[in-house]
Amino acid sequence: MYPDYMLESIKQVEKTRPERYELSKKYGKQVFPPMNEKERDDILTNFHPDYKDDALTEIKIGPNKGEKLTSAVSNMLESHTRIDPAKFDLNKPDHETDVLIIGAGSAGMSAAITAAGNGSEVLIATKLRLGDSNSMMAQGGIQAADQKDDSPVLHYLDIMGGGHFDNQPDLVKAFVKDAPLAIKWLSDLGVMFDKNPDGSMMVKPGGGTCRSRMHSTRDYTGAGICRVLRDEVYNLPDKIKYLEYSPIVELILDDKGQAAGAISYHLGTKQYSVIKAKTVIIATGGFGRLHIRGYETSNHYGATADGLMLAYRAGVKLSFMDSVQYHPTGAVYPEQILGFLCTEKIRTMGAQPVNKNGELFVYPLEPRDIEASSFIRESTERNLGVTTPSGLKGIWLDSPLVDMINGEGSINKYLPAMYRQYSRFDIDIAKYPMLVFPTLHYQNGGVQINDNAETTIPGLYVAGEATGGVHGRNRLMGNSQMDLIVFGRRSGLHASERAKKGVDFGKMSLEHVYSYEKEVNKINIDKKKIAPILLPDYIPNHVKEKQVDTEYFGTLR
Ligand code: FUM
Repeated sequence: MYPDYMLESIKQVEKTRPERYELSKKYGKQVFPPMNEKERDDILTNFHPDYKDDALTEIKIGPNKGEKLTSAVSNMLESHTRIDPAKFDLNKPDHETDVLIIGAGSAGMSAAITAAGNGSEVLIATKLRLGDSNSMMAQGGIQAADQKDDSPVLHYLDIMGGGHFDNQPDLVKAFVKDAPLAIKWLSDLGVMFDKNPDGSMMVKPGGGTCRSRMHSTRDYTGAGICRVLRDEVYNLPDKIKYLEYSPIVELILDDKGQAAGAISYHLGTKQYSVIKAKTVIIATGGFGRLHIRGYETSNHYGATADGLMLAYRAGVKLSFMDSVQYHPTGAVYPEQILGFLCTEKIRTMGAQPVNKNGELFVYPLEPRDIEASSFIRESTERNLGVTTPSGLKGIWLDSPLVDMINGEGSINKYLPAMYRQYSRFDIDIAKYPMLVFPTLHYQNGGVQINDNAETTIPGLYVAGEATGGVHGRNRLMGNSQMDLIVFGRRSGLHASERAKKGVDFGKMSLEHVYSYEKEVNKINIDKKKIAPILLPDYIPNHVKEKQVDTEYFGTLR
């Protein structure tokens, strides 16, 4: 339960709640005026972490050389390889396949199912287990314009507006056109989307959307989808093989510059394997575990931006790597769940963000970057946040309004995961608000692709959070879940088609690894700095100094 001094602040929240409830009855979600363009620009410039003086650092090597990237990313990319390329006999592969897929979240598994369905042999290599991914942890929903009052054109405009019109238009077009088909594909596979009593899809709005188009499976939509995809992978053992605990540490190209496979590393046996593949799909997810600017994260332990490093070292450009998404509502109390996501769906169902005096200070469904910035302003410049016992700041998310607006029991019915997450700490979110603060949630940018999910390296495809372009500089809720399926399927189809045509391979080569290494050495990077990182380093110095085998201390934080 909350400590007494927080309960005093909650009394203020309870005092203003009836008036705010009346406002929501009268104005729906528009309980507070949305910001105009100038207000949005101002709040981003002054409070969003991406705009801090040291947020960006010029990268000195590789395809984006000379550009300013998010400092932690730039720093990570300027790293040595994990391998000694000379030790590998690429002519004696341990595995051969048509399509190699790196990563097993929803993008990787959609790609695998699609490629297998198109007649290709597939091998998945994944760092942890099938399904261990941000996809599995996604909560609020998946967007598709498949309702009567909606259209892919409106969806397109929302995505472009949310992304500050920086998005790559061909990718957005592919996305909105495929989205309704993707919902049907998922439903046919067995995903149990929430339905209205008449059997129609239950849809909700999200921040920055002009229509209700968020489909969901309660507040564990990612698990609802990812578990079904994983079952389908299990159902196709003749077509899809998989290697678990086997992250890929380098790509293999051929001497014509085509993708030709990869080197995997088994976390248990510590052995490397050579995989030869006609085509390769990177679907490794995002970078939350880089803890950019020291932020807590909603991401899973494997989210260390491995795909960015693999593609970059092989020579593919990255887009929008100056942009980071901080989800407005990460938990700050209890601290056992610090950084965990409190889904945007709580706000789409009527919860309002209020300060320590119980005052509503922002439209609850601004696009994420604006909403997050206003939380930061409220708890820093205005000093109206609530301080936790260990000195962190937070904003109240007034969740009891959800039951008042939607009927008693709605929280338990539609937000069961959230309800349980807090019940464990004796906090009933149907009665008490939740204390939240922005948490590092999503990698807006990533590897450049075209609308077939192809990179500039023939035979190399990328899908999901590892890519950049669809969402511009700010993604809207539920568009990541859809991105995984749309570009997962597109990458699977096009990789499989290329494999079926047959690839005229040259000599297998790790030349790109040698070349990048030369660049890294020129800028005198410490030999100990290597990437892909694989697992975050949460090892306290006193453990490191004892020189115990620290490889599996990833979760010791
Ligand atoms: O708030 C959420 O449920 C997050 C969804 C998303 O990032 O798409």
